[in-house]
Amino acid sequence: MGKKVIVTGDRPTGRLHIGHYFGSLRKRVEMQNSGLYEPYILIADVQALTDNFNNPDKVHKNVREVAMDYLSCGIDPEKSTIYVQSMIPEVAELTVFYSNLVTIARLERNPTVKTEIAQKRDLFGESVTYGFLGYPVSQAADITAFEAELVPVGEDQLPLIEQCREIVRKFNSIYGDVLKEPEAILSDGKRIKGLDGNEKMGKSLGNAIYLSDSEEEITKKVMGAVTDPGRIKKDDLGNPDICMVSYYHKLFTNPDDYETVCNECKAGTRGCVACKKQLAHNIIEYLRPIREKRKYYEEHQEIVDKILMEGTLKAQKKAKETMRKIKKAMKLNYFE
Ligand code: TRP
Repeated sequence: MGKKVIVTGDRPTGRLHIGHYFGSLRKRVEMQNSGLYEPYILIADVQALTDNFNNPDKVHKNVREVAMDYLSCGIDPEKSTIYVQSMIPEVAELTVFYSNLVTIARLERNPTVKTEIAQKRDLFGESVTYGFLGYPVSQAADITAFEAELVPVGEDQLPLIEQCREIVRKFNSIYGDVLKEPEAILSDGKRIKGLDGNEKMGKSLGNAIYLSDSEEEITKKVMGAVTDPGRIKKDDLGNPDICMVSYYHKLFTNPDDYETVCNECKAGTRGCVACKKQLAHNIIEYLRPIREKRKYYEEHQEIVDKILMEGTLKAQKKAKETMRKIKKAMKLNYFE
């Protein structure tokens, strides 16, 4: 049996943080190493422009940052194809073809798009752009250009995959059975809360620890994490359930030590400062291999570029093959 094609990716609007790591990167590496799949991982620069069209420098710069984050986490270019979305012209072409198969009302009802539009009032004002409203169509092109069977994504992306499936069904009902209907699989990862206790860790929220953060940055961020507000003096009894330091200890500290953390906190025998220092140390050690690998790539940009170029070439080939079938089905194959 052939390997199942996977397509997934990220918008290059910032470096990746531990929320990305636990949420999706770890799972991608696992899937890649299982040998059961053929993963395509796109750096979605065109999609990033839909809400950053006024900031091309940011998108440009972060394409390489995201690539380095992938490589340092264990995405292996021998096993996964990492490529740049804008360099696959077929994706742009398909987006145009699919735009006939989706109504504006349906896009406006997409819960993910709806939420994002509400969050982006500053950028869009009263009226959203055609490109942003239509980005689910472009994402459907990302997925189907590679005949993906599986799309590992977070929960927030499910409406986009559903919309892709609808486009596929509509396409196939009109032009014949050409496109594969993909399935979403939840990257079973945890959603990681921010250092401030916010449900979401996010670059725009300023509450994230990045995979590329230095030891000093990690320590500084952990020292500023939100703890039980009721604990003022060192021997006050603490409640680890409402403390972000305890929350992260659970992720980065071995289970026995974690139990000690909670017990001492509840008994008022553990000071928050010492507790934070221990946590910072554990996070630093946990991320050390990633940070060291990343440093290597930072010092060898030419290797990163070569990986991106080779991945992109491979992706171009695959997308071209799919496009030939699609154009034939749509009777756009004039001189064949
Ligand atoms: N929308 C995804 C995100 O913001 C990124 C993405 C673009 C994607 N194209 C994709 C994910 C195709 C999976 C498949 O995280």
